[in-house]
Amino acid sequence: MPKIVAIHGSPRRNGNTSTLLRQAVKGARDAGAEVREFVLRDLKMSPCLEIYKCKESGRCAIQDDFQIVHDAMLSSDGLILASPIFFYTVSAHTKILMDRCQSCWVKKYWIDKTPFGNRPLKRKGLFISVGATRGRKLFDGALLTVRYFFDVLDVGLWRSLLYRNLDFEGDVMKHPAYLEEAYRTGRTFAGAFASASD
Ligand SMILES: Cc1cc2nc3c(=O)[nH]c(=O)nc-3n(C[C@H](O)[C@H](O)[C@H](O)COP(=O)(O)O)c2cc1C
Repeated sequence: MPKIVAIHGSPRRNGNTSTLLRQAVKGARDAGAEVREFVLRDLKMSPCLEIYKCKESGRCAIQDDFQIVHDAMLSSDGLILASPIFFYTVSAHTKILMDRCQSCWVKKYWIDKTPFGNRPLKRKGLFISVGATRGRKLFDGALLTVRYFFDVLDVGLWRSLLYRNLDFEGDVMKHPAYLEEAYRTGRTFAGAFASASD
């Protein structure tokens, strides 16, 4: 049974990304995965303070809820990250989590001296995002950030679900096809761990 961590990155508890993420989580659970959800807005998580105490042990020295999320992510097989687009990147809640994973970057590249580029990705990741506008480049910034964040956790970006033109809370409910796609993708994601080729 794959272990998956699902991260709600929106400040809205019932916003568009959280609704889509819940669909994906349901799909993954229905396919037999064990899924642990974290709602970032409910956690106490300081931004990275750039003190680099992590150079000693590879762990972030700030004792707050990041430690629980960190351990859950590192003991998982896969990650589902959901964030709305805020100023062409991820939300502040999501970015705080990402920046705290600088400790994982330090561990991977400074302490363990993992060569850049050439490493097996142990985990798979699914990224879910929505934005209010329709521009071609709407998700470019977030995707770059997510890819590098995932890399630090040895997560390969398996798939992204990206939806434009959704703004107000509940907008996604007008699109049953999106909800269905998120559910199906969650199911397929959970199934992807059995097959080495996916
Ligand atoms: C601070 C802030 C910044 C935003 N920046 C963008 C943006 O750059 N591009 C865009 O298309 N929508 C932007 N939006 C709109 C959100 O992406 C949109 O409302 C989305 O549906 C929110 O998702 P959620 O319900 O999961 O929080 C922004 C909203 C907020 C509150």
